[in-house]
Amino acid sequence: MEFPKGFKWGTATASYQIEGAAGEDGRGESIWDRFSRTPGKVLNGHTGDVACDHYHLYKHDVALMKEIGVDSYRFSLAWPRIYPTGAGQVNHRGLDFYKRLIEELLTAGIEPAATLYHWDLPQALEDKGGWMNRDTALYFQDYAETVFQELGDSVQLWITLNEPWCSAFLGYGNGEHAPGKQDFAGHLHAAHHLLLAHGLALQAYRALNLPAEIGITLNLTQQYPASSSPEDQEAVRKADGFHNRWYLDPLLKGFYPQDMPEFLSIVAPKIQPGDFDLISAPLDFLGINNYSRGIVEHDGQGGYRSVPPQGPVTAMGWEVYPQGLYDLLMRVHKDYGPLPLYITENGAAYHDLVEQGRVHDQERIVYLQEHIAQAAKAIQDGVPLQGYYVWSLLDNFEWAFGYERRFGIVYVNFETQERMLKDSALWYQSFLKGLARG
Ligand code: FCB
Repeated sequence: MEFPKGFKWGTATASYQIEGAAGEDGRGESIWDRFSRTPGKVLNGHTGDVACDHYHLYKHDVALMKEIGVDSYRFSLAWPRIYPTGAGQVNHRGLDFYKRLIEELLTAGIEPAATLYHWDLPQALEDKGGWMNRDTALYFQDYAETVFQELGDSVQLWITLNEPWCSAFLGYGNGEHAPGKQDFAGHLHAAHHLLLAHGLALQAYRALNLPAEIGITLNLTQQYPASSSPEDQEAVRKADGFHNRWYLDPLLKGFYPQDMPEFLSIVAPKIQPGDFDLISAPLDFLGINNYSRGIVEHDGQGGYRSVPPQGPVTAMGWEVYPQGLYDLLMRVHKDYGPLPLYITENGAAYHDLVEQGRVHDQERIVYLQEHIAQAAKAIQDGVPLQGYYVWSLLDNFEWAFGYERRFGIVYVNFETQERMLKDSALWYQSFLKGLARG
């Protein structure tokens, strides 16, 4: 396998999933604090109050990354640490945590890659309508500008939003994630405001003339038909429109997919002149999170439904289908390129067992190897892929599944906060050692 010079190898995490210290140093309440406390929303009633206690153990975690040998670390900033109520006075104690973390990374020779929004919206903004309210995009611009001003020269890669499809659909459409709203039309408004927030943050960034690259991360899943019938092909078009193109098109083409009139008629009243100029302003890269594929069939009523996986699955029930990553990269490049791409998340949850002080997570190793091989093949076939981040460095709070799904290459004992490199981390370490990097 060959990777271009300067290709970045990393691991990724997100603030609410690892930091803990939920009430510390003036941090405000986020929608995930509220949601995880609402009975029945998160498995076993787990919350991110303590999580991996990374807020206190970050030095140890950076040391682990150094030991593994990554080039870059993708983390996210908690908006409510910096603006406890979403707007108003900056909380410098919150910003200081990220300054300490970044300093520790730079000292260890690891490039910081920072995401501004990985789902922990200040609850005070949710109380005013959250992402369904257009003003949230404006507050986000202010928050982004503060962060760029304070940390702008020390971060190498900026990501505005993580997976707006999840924030919009899981948060406001089916309610599986915070804030738990169930309103299909509302989720499309939320999606529009998230895209606008991205555009406004990008505008603020460009105005500051900072040198680092900036982009956005989407969760993209290649969709396949259950059969070769024209009806199932049509089902693929619709599923792809919903999961992928509804975000790719506005960002990279400057308009919503025209073949989705039912969606368009809902969102049209919310679109204001100039929105698409902001949303589709040039990106330095697109971040892609990918875990699996989708298989769909028509439902006989003009819609579609998912069919069960056809191969092995992870502990999430997600099919392991490495070729899906190749197909996706080729497709994004062909339909939206040329544009530098990063895989900002890829990884797998398995039911890990500690046996005599070791975790033999062979399935995760195979998962990573096979996906990295598909990424290498896409590069060979012309895709300008610039980096790959394993999700995740640590076992952590896996949203609605609490601590019941382990994605880490590092095992975390949530009672003692002890960390232990799983076999997959040791494999990643030797894989990285074996690469000629420069
Ligand atoms: C992605 C999220 C990330 C993590 C993985 C498993 O959708 O961005 O926080 O939960 O899934």
